Amino acid sequence: NMDRLDTPEAARDYVHAARRKGQRVGIVPTMGALHQGHLSLVAESQKHCDTTIATIFVNPTQFAPHEDLQKYPRTLEQDCELLASQGASAVFVPETSLIYPPGFSTYVDPPAVAASLEGEFRPDHFRGVATIVLKLFQILPGTHAFFGRKDYQQLKVIEAMVRDLNVGIDVVACDTVREPDGLALSSRNRYLDPQQRQIALQISRALQSTQRRVQAGQTDVATLQNEMRHELLGGGDPAKAVDKIDYASIVDADSLAPLTELDRPAVALIAAFVGPTRLIDNLLL
Ligand code: PAJ
Repeated sequence: NMDRLDTPEAARDYVHAARRKGQRVGIVPTMGALHQGHLSLVAESQKHCDTTIATIFVNPTQFAPHEDLQKYPRTLEQDCELLASQGASAVFVPETSLIYPPGFSTYVDPPAVAASLEGEFRPDHFRGVATIVLKLFQILPGTHAFFGRKDYQQLKVIEAMVRDLNVGIDVVACDTVREPDGLALSSRNRYLDPQQRQIALQISRALQSTQRRVQAGQTDVATLQNEMRHELLGGGDPAKAVDKIDYASIVDADSLAPLTELDRPAVALIAAFVGPTRLIDNLLL
């Protein structure tokens, strides 16, 4: 009994019908390959809203030519079953040609908070994210939209865009869902073989160690960042080392500006490769 919406027109009509009834309408944008992290956003939307609409769209404009767009996992049938069992009212699954028809040429220039970290290593990524998310907000003008802190910088980019462009939708941030051993759930985890899965654990371990050091009184950011890198590189055991660190940084939790002293709310963020798989994670300090 979950509705499937295939076109922007059907999607807008669906939201308008719910809004006319005075309902709160929650939007949960995803790229599919759903896991409990995504489903926690749906559950959060169910708490706040009368109608929850998930979207599944692997957005080509946020992938660089060398990235994993072609091999990004696609599990649509299972995704729809999971969404239905979680109680979603509808799922929007558009064809790429309906979102980016011939002649498409308008993009969102993302906010300043997009420039560092991911922005440095994936230069056009947030331009693609901001563009698709604004398009989804236009197609599905709900009252609320739900995003995970797992993609912390993405959340900050969307919050700033919504503020700067007066988008009438409330952005709700949701906590990161983790495996029992700490690994943050990610669609890309399914690329990992058992050995890589073990190495990937260094990422959440490094973040948790950082949090412990901060709780124990360490406030020097350079020291904390060096210790994070050391742990990512196996803490002396090369068999446990990630293959490449894009960044392991502690920054201001709101502006994402660099810090030297931990004298305000901060966030530790990591992007690292395990084999060919690029993983990200973060922890508020
Ligand atoms: P995707 O990676 O599919 O993630 C969809 C949403 O699920 C994002 O808000 C993300 O932060 C959240 N999420 C992913 N893993 C999570 C976890 N372990 N715990 C909690 N939330 C988690 O992010 C995207 O898709 C795309 O960039 C998108 C916003 C859909 C635009 O294309």
